[in-house]
Amino acid sequence: MQITEVKHYEEMSKKASELIINRIKQMPKTVLGLATGSTPEGMYKELVQAHKNGEISFSNTTTYNLDEYIGLPSEDKNSYRFYMNDRLFHHIDIPLEQTNVPNGMASDLTKECKVYDESIRQSGGIDLQVLGIGVNGHIGFNEPGTSFETGTHVVQLAPSTIHANARFFASEEDVPKQAITMGIQSIMKSKEIILLISGAKKADAVFQLLHGEVSEIFPASILQNHQNVHLIADEAALSKV
Ligand code: GLP
Repeated sequence: MQITEVKHYEEMSKKASELIINRIKQMPKTVLGLATGSTPEGMYKELVQAHKNGEISFSNTTTYNLDEYIGLPSEDKNSYRFYMNDRLFHHIDIPLEQTNVPNGMASDLTKECKVYDESIRQSGGIDLQVLGIGVNGHIGFNEPGTSFETGTHVVQLAPSTIHANARFFASEEDVPKQAITMGIQSIMKSKEIILLISGAKKADAVFQLLHGEVSEIFPASILQNHQNVHLIADEAALSKV
């Protein structure tokens, strides 16, 4: 794993956006895997700014998001489709048909998962996947105990994840209990991964990620087995390593 230590969140966001911009300049048809949460928000701001400055076009890029809550329509401001439109897609020149977020409102969720995996496969696979990490080591919404062999699937969210994400909702009861997530197998198939981690509350997770054993108990530990992971983390996140 290549590790880049940066001073703070802003520098992490800038570095990550530069990597993505360079990749798309080299290969405009890049298939990007994207993440939500607080961590990549600064990176999306940088990408929007770069597009406004005329530095980068996303018109040939395709995107696949990692996950989506079950039961939240795209107009709900807590759905990840809303988040992506709001933070990135509506501010750049990517045609919306080239953006993919699992549909958490699908009547047949098993079919939705299969269709999502098939679509990724037909696009040629993910070239560059952006990842954050949950305090319990989850990636996407792959909670501790998830098999490393999974494709896109439906998950029950861990109480710690519901608690951590309650900050975006009116109350903890409003946080959906289920989600669709790309599986560990799908994530591991990405040709390259940028893992972003910021802040002291993730310091234990970073320690576990880098020094813990590879185990389904801590899903992100599987990244130790990926050949092309670039961790960009700030001083606070790296403070216990
Ligand atoms: C969320 C998302 C993950 C994200 C993680 C960390 O639940 N499903 O994709 O990486 O938790 O979120 P944050 O960046 O807000 O700490």
